[in-house]
Amino acid sequence: MELTGKTALITGASSGIGYATALAFARRGVHIVVTARTLERLEALVSAVGSLPAPHGEILPLAVDVRDPAAVDAAVQRFGRLDILIANAGVGQRGSLIDSPLEDIQAVFRTNIDGVIFAVRAAVPLMRQAGGGHIVIISSVVANMITPYTASYSASKAAVSSLARALRYELEADHIGVSDLLVGRTATEFNVRRLGAAGYADRAPRLPMMTPEYVAERIVRAVERNHGTVTLRPFDRMIVLINQFLPKLVARRALRQYKPS
Ligand SMILES: NC(=O)c1ccc[n+]([C@@H]2O[C@H](COP(=O)([O-])OP(=O)(O)OC[C@H]3O[C@@H](n4cnc5c(N)ncnc54)[C@H](OP(=O)(O)O)[C@@H]3O)[C@@H](O)[C@H]2O)c1
Repeated sequence: MELTGKTALITGASSGIGYATALAFARRGVHIVVTARTLERLEALVSAVGSLPAPHGEILPLAVDVRDPAAVDAAVQRFGRLDILIANAGVGQRGSLIDSPLEDIQAVFRTNIDGVIFAVRAAVPLMRQAGGGHIVIISSVVANMITPYTASYSASKAAVSSLARALRYELEADHIGVSDLLVGRTATEFNVRRLGAAGYADRAPRLPMMTPEYVAERIVRAVERNHGTVTLRPFDRMIVLINQFLPKLVARRALRQYKPS
């Protein structure tokens, strides 16, 4: 896809990967609706886009909780046309599936799964009208892993990866590409903002981290080249491969890493 002049919606653009992706698209002349719950942080993104060398895309910030389908739909309709959707908003969770507050587990599923479904269902009719488009669903390398004590998060990402892979075929005839992006550890606020984190020492600090800017460039490339399932770096491909052949080993490793101290 040639990007200049296209329109995009990014959910969860107030920080991290969504923020970096908005800048990456704006630099390429894409007009973007950026959404998150925190409008002040989106305003900072608008200023950052304003400081880019001209010409750059227009940017429109909207306070949207992705768990609210009407608000998501209004954001999608905002430009009256949509070529690109980046379904990125997400939240992590640590804790026992049994003993964690039910609200935390529901927040993960409502944000990470419902939020994606609402955005995709709102976006596709507009993309059909435009004759095509591209959807990137931000998943995780943990999507297909056995991850005790962070099971709700992994299950939510398994769900959206599965949806993305099926949608790629469902929407093929509409010329709408769908990418399932299996993101690995990235240096964002995600790792400190996750729900239920108290008492969970992070025992994986030495795992190599990507920058959100690197992930953003790969998201742009996935849209330009209509990539399907994408694992971003050799380290993550190795993890996915080890998980495929030695899932119990990975599960034991996850148990050591995620069990509360
Ligand atoms: N960082 C990693 O290591 C990593 C690894 C694999 C996958 N991912 C995935 O990458 C995506 C982006 O995460 P990130 O690393 O960039 O983390 P982040 O910096 O914490 O960004 C998360 C974004 O989602 C938004 N968000 C959270 N709940 C929301 C809700 N209910 N409605 C609307 N927006 C909401 C946040 O904004 P507000 O709080 O302002 O609403 C924020 O903009 C997530 O889907 C995450 O699961 C991250």
